[in-house]
Amino acid sequence: MSASATSPTDLDSVDAFAQRVLDSVLGSMDTLAILLGDRLGWYRSLAEDGPAAADELAARTGTHPRYTREWLEQQAVTGLLGVEDGDPPRFVLSPAGREVLTDPHSLSYLAPLARMICGATMQLPGLLEAYRDGGGVSWSRFGRDVRESQADANRPLFEKSLPGALRSIPEIDRMLGEPGARIADIGCGGGWSTITLARTYPGSHVHGVDIDPPSVALARSNLATESRTDDDVAQRVTFTRCDASELPAGHFRAAFAFECLHDMPRPVEVLAAVRRSLTPGGFMIVMDEAVAETFTAPGDDLERLMYGYSLTVCLPDGMSHTPSAATGTVMRPATLRRYALDAGFTAVDVLPIEDVGFFRFYLLRTG
Ligand SMILES: C[S@@+](CC[C@H](N)C(=O)[O-])C[C@H]1O[C@@H](n2cnc3c(N)ncnc32)[C@H](O)[C@@H]1O
Repeated sequence: MSASATSPTDLDSVDAFAQRVLDSVLGSMDTLAILLGDRLGWYRSLAEDGPAAADELAARTGTHPRYTREWLEQQAVTGLLGVEDGDPPRFVLSPAGREVLTDPHSLSYLAPLARMICGATMQLPGLLEAYRDGGGVSWSRFGRDVRESQADANRPLFEKSLPGALRSIPEIDRMLGEPGARIADIGCGGGWSTITLARTYPGSHVHGVDIDPPSVALARSNLATESRTDDDVAQRVTFTRCDASELPAGHFRAAFAFECLHDMPRPVEVLAAVRRSLTPGGFMIVMDEAVAETFTAPGDDLERLMYGYSLTVCLPDGMSHTPSAATGTVMRPATLRRYALDAGFTAVDVLPIEDVGFFRFYLLRTG
């Protein structure tokens, strides 16, 4: 190693390096097993119907008893399930496990992350091809697991943390609270942010737009389910399939882009269209990853996570269109600032919102 190269000192020995790689492999296996438990309904059954022996869980979930036993034993060995002694033994999901793996409203709900990783893994042949020839793998090709994972992962943050975060900034709260305020939510995905904005501001009309037809269908279905208990929201939310670079001019009081700008192949074009779509004095808020100001290695868990997403999903998605800014998940503040100013916004502020997941909120001003 050259004198100037940096390396984490705790990986200097072959044994430590090998252990680190083995830990990564074990983590990948846990992730695949979490996907099985999530998609086959095993966690949900253990959470809702209580502890079970292998045959019992297989019968409850319509799965094969031999595979069910192998999965239960793997989960116990890796420490995610407990075991009640007996013949046969029964397997237990703890209250903490229930929340992390099965509660879609919890801020600690992490099962969707396994779906994201496994959905990306299924596209490995396309990813290898893209890495060789500079092409990409589009969001639509990543398909259902990745789309639903994204929506489910951010839903609790939107429902639980977004309203308080917006209300904590008086200037923003006042404008969003104006009677009849028209708000755009670009790249709305499954629509949970759109629905939350409408609930938070009862005088508003919120328009979710997304370029991906299945995402629009998912958002409409989520709205239909939600409006069974809240008809008013259904009257004030619309979901449209639309490229955000084609928004109507002079139409919205405010616009939001939640965790989507870094995926877009032409972010400046989209931001310029959003700016034109705003009424005088209107503003845009971009919520994107709270990565560090500059590249530093080794990085913390947030940087590791975002580079992981970038390698497997976001950069290939962005590069699946030509031309592409090829931003990737690790969109640092200076990059966002440059995009916004190039698009004609007059200033970019980082909002004092620090407790919403992995995210940073940027306020893009028009005047
Ligand atoms: C990572 S997902 C984020 C979805 C949602 N905002 C959330 O936080 O769950 C990015 C979304 O942006 C959408 N998208 C990408 N480019 C777009 C464009 N030019 N116009 C509208 N939507 C776009 C994708 O279809 C996808 O649904």
